Amino acid sequence: MDKVNANDEHVHELLEAHAHVWNHMFSFIRSMSLKCAIDLGIPDIIQNHGKPMTITELVTVLPKLNPTKACDIHRLMRILVHSGFFSYRKLDNAAQEVGYVLTNASRLLLKNNPLSVTPLLKGVLDPIFIKSWLVLGTWFQNDDCDPFVTANGKRAYDYCGQDPSIRNLFNEGMASDARLIASVLIDKCKGAFEGLGSLVDVGGGTGTVAKAIADAFPHLDCTVLDLPHVVDGLHGGNNLKYVGGNMFEAVPATDAVILKWIFHNWNDEECVKILKQCKEAISDGGKVGGKVMIVDIVVMDEEKVNEGNSKSLETQLFYDMLMMAVHAGRERREEEWAKLFCAAGFNGYKIIPVFGLRSLIEVYP
Ligand SMILES: C[S@@+](CC[C@H](N)C(=O)[O-])C[C@H]1O[C@@H](n2cnc3c(N)ncnc32)[C@H](O)[C@@H]1O
Repeated sequence: MDKVNANDEHVHELLEAHAHVWNHMFSFIRSMSLKCAIDLGIPDIIQNHGKPMTITELVTVLPKLNPTKACDIHRLMRILVHSGFFSYRKLDNAAQEVGYVLTNASRLLLKNNPLSVTPLLKGVLDPIFIKSWLVLGTWFQNDDCDPFVTANGKRAYDYCGQDPSIRNLFNEGMASDARLIASVLIDKCKGAFEGLGSLVDVGGGTGTVAKAIADAFPHLDCTVLDLPHVVDGLHGGNNLKYVGGNMFEAVPATDAVILKWIFHNWNDEECVKILKQCKEAISDGGKVGGKVMIVDIVVMDEEKVNEGNSKSLETQLFYDMLMMAVHAGRERREEEWAKLFCAAGFNGYKIIPVFGLRSLIEVYP
């Protein structure tokens, strides 16, 4: 057996470090390849084919494909097979051809899947939001409140207010995620709604979560509070209404409030202001003592991270960076959440980890 000398070890470490840098340098290619497959409609095309789809069949039906580029599609598919979005399956024919099939991950990208992640992905990877990443370093050195401002001249929610196409992109991304959360909330957290007569979804967007809750619990009066440009023109139903307003100024009186993906957009001081408005709202109306229900990330304790959950922590940290890049927001660890609740005058909280990377946090006055 060859003796490993100091030099061999050095070269090995050097090459490992080199490969590590390369993998990171090229990480954007994962998301961009995925976006490309979605732009070309590949997941839906394979789904509609109904059986493993060969590369020849795929390039034949890809819309508007320039024939000179048909020979490159297999390279796009190869990286996406490698990243777990498609897999190969043998066809039942004499030639023993191999075709592409969907995986659990690409089924979540299908247009007609009610839990599709595609609208969120399209928002996150839209050039307007990508621009924030390109100026992150500049932002660290200037006085702008967030990188989105450095890139686009105004804050993200102001931009959405003024640009209908970005507003729709953003709201559709939010609504797609809200469908997933609403279904889990109603399925797994029924008890959280017991005894409540009214609920306000603060920053509830176009109302996907509130609508689902209103349908599942017809006795519950549900209100969606969001900025006027988000809720203008939206109509509720029997037990659902929309209110345009500003959560920093007032939240309608209610038994409970729910806030999904709100606090991670704001700094601590702003979060305490929102929490205080929520506290006032539930102390006015609450016949059962009231509570605040938060759906957000509780960042894992780094000391508890092992091989099995380190990807979850990485995804939470990605989200934390996303919040920094777009809103000057942040994801918080349990201690950071507890500090906010205490500063806003709440007495207790319970973390219920029911949404994978996110949790339901109930906060009590
Ligand atoms: C990240 S989105 C979450 C939307 C929704 N809760 C969801 O998860 O699908 C944040 C929401 O807060 C709303 N928002 C921002 N500033 C607000 C304010 N000052 N008052 C009320 N809503 C606000 C935005 O318009 C947006 O709909």
